[in-house]
Amino acid sequence: MNVLGIETSCDDTAAAVITDGTIIKSNIVASQSDMHKKYGGIIPEIASREHFTSLIPVVNEALEQASLTYKNIDAIAVTNGPGLAGSLLIGVNSAKGLSMSWDKPLIGINHLEGHIYSAWLEDLEPDHQAGFPLVCLIASGGHTDLVVMKDHLDYKLIGKTRDDAAGEAFDKAARVLGLGFPGGPEIQKMSEEALETVAALPRPAIKDSLDFSFSGLKTALVRKAEAEGFYPVIDNNGPSRQQTTEYSFAFQEAIVDCLVRNTVKAVSENNAKGVILGGGVAANSRLRQKMNDAMDVPVFVPRPGLCTDNGAMIGAAAFFNLQNGLPFELDMDAIPNLRMGIT
Ligand code: KG4
Ligand code: ZN
Repeated sequence: MNVLGIETSCDDTAAAVITDGTIIKSNIVASQSDMHKKYGGIIPEIASREHFTSLIPVVNEALEQASLTYKNIDAIAVTNGPGLAGSLLIGVNSAKGLSMSWDKPLIGINHLEGHIYSAWLEDLEPDHQAGFPLVCLIASGGHTDLVVMKDHLDYKLIGKTRDDAAGEAFDKAARVLGLGFPGGPEIQKMSEEALETVAALPRPAIKDSLDFSFSGLKTALVRKAEAEGFYPVIDNNGPSRQQTTEYSFAFQEAIVDCLVRNTVKAVSENNAKGVILGGGVAANSRLRQKMNDAMDVPVFVPRPGLCTDNGAMIGAAAFFNLQNGLPFELDMDAIPNLRMGIT
């Protein structure tokens, strides 16, 4: 079965053709980060306008790279939430138009479910290699969720952030450290040069809970930066390269340790047979390394390009949802605050 997966929930315009939920025939991502860089964050109006102009060319490129025409597509899948309302609407309405004009089934996919199903791409297939239950950590710019997956399509939310998402915390810290947007990859790069000479930052924990909290960590970084005199920047007194690298390292270690600590606890409380990492923050090499070191069950983590937003993950998640039938969800809504795994 060939599924065309479409993703426009945030600032990446993406489309992919996925065969049988696991094989990537094509995977095209048009990133808007250059457009948003100069504002230090995502501007929703710019994001939806860019999706509007890029989506159909991206879909055409995905078909072309897969050497297929629309006639070979068996179903269209589109992210219908959570995400930015204007961005989601472009994807949902375009997918409806394609479904009608091509006469192909249409299904809405939860973006977070997509991040989980990235782990079924490229022969990772955690159900075959480890088995259920699996603990999934989805850490992105908008979410930091711990989910128990008891079977395909069966989720329970067991932990979430009470304030900032992990990716959002990276993005905010990068601004304090004079780095660009998105902040996560910049902080990772700077950390690699660090000599580990500054004191550690706190690892906030919430008693008797698998929830996360990152806003205090960001405040701790701001206080240090103020004490060292490089923030707020007045008269070009920004951080030196060494201050940037040292505090990048300290911040990354603190976030990674919080994510690993709660995931280890979730695995043990749920007798999980494996761990899935997904979302943009799962691209972080230090997180990948420390999570692997801490676990005595297998950790499934897609390559970095499949952790950040893409259409392949939507096509993969759709395949498993389509085992229950081929719907034509032409009355589908974009749902900006769509949740997953809450009973
Ligand atoms: O999943 P994603 O592409 O979009 C959302 O659904 O939000 O995640 C984007 C987030 C951004 O906050 C970005 O800073 C973070 O993922 N990110 C990283 C890395 N690459 C992307 N954070 C830490 N290390 C990275 N290498
Ligand atoms: Zn995402």
